[in-house]
Amino acid sequence: MRNTRQELLTTTEARYSGDENGHPGIGEFRQMVQAFYQEHKRPMAWRETTDPYRILLSEIMLQQTQVERVALKYPEFIARFPDFPALARASPADILPVWQGMGYNRRAIALQKCAERVMTEFGGTLPCDVDTLATFPGIGRATASSIAAFAFNLPVVFIETNIRRVFIHFFFSDGDTVSDNEILPLVGRSLDRENPREWYWALMDLGTSLKKSVPNPNRRSVHYTKQSAFVGSDRKIRGGILRMLVSGKKMTVVQVAHTCAEDTERVAKILGALESEGFIRKDGKYFGIVS
Ligand code: ADE
Repeated sequence: MRNTRQELLTTTEARYSGDENGHPGIGEFRQMVQAFYQEHKRPMAWRETTDPYRILLSEIMLQQTQVERVALKYPEFIARFPDFPALARASPADILPVWQGMGYNRRAIALQKCAERVMTEFGGTLPCDVDTLATFPGIGRATASSIAAFAFNLPVVFIETNIRRVFIHFFFSDGDTVSDNEILPLVGRSLDRENPREWYWALMDLGTSLKKSVPNPNRRSVHYTKQSAFVGSDRKIRGGILRMLVSGKKMTVVQVAHTCAEDTERVAKILGALESEGFIRKDGKYFGIVS
């Protein structure tokens, strides 16, 4: 019978004696991560491609949405917007209906602006260097680095939440607080420079698996923040407003406030923010999605 995830983790860990603190050496760590990945790699559509457009799309989607949900939405998005030129031509009214269900709608607007910039400034080709990628809308250093690794197989050194969890679990078992500056040298030393793409897939899968099997090591990261409550939040109201308008409906502030049973002043503020972020436009008294 195949080992369960937990058994494999425990048995692979047990094979390594580690240093005096029980932490593995870099060579041992690499072998363990690779052994885990061989046994437990998770098939994902965005791991079947090196098309920079598709990788950019998946990395933006995966920033704040779980793999299972992204897996459902990713093919639909690609069917509707297959490449940079198609997305560059799209308006918020074209994109937001396809994005529904993903949450954090700002990402959809940022993605479209990325496509526009690729077309107007880079002749239709996504640049591969992290510094340039990090100047694109919605792309911070971690996303820029993951694009460099997954689309271009570049040996960049970076941390995101799953990678952080792996290193804290295996190398900082006794630290109360760990900063990314302490983790980064280990990420660099362990990196498989021949095949960074696969190495980072392996780290991310192991990090996801650890989330299910041990108390979250990231609680000991100085960068740890708990996601704030969604119920009653501006974020929930924003999502609700966009859902109302996404079908093409036009509504006044009072109508919106009434429909979502919220205070008019609060709703007016949120509508103002959505307008300045490029989601919606006001025509007379009526708000509608930018088309
Ligand atoms: N595979 C490629 N990118 C990923 C990500 N950001 N999260 C999980 N798996 C991935």
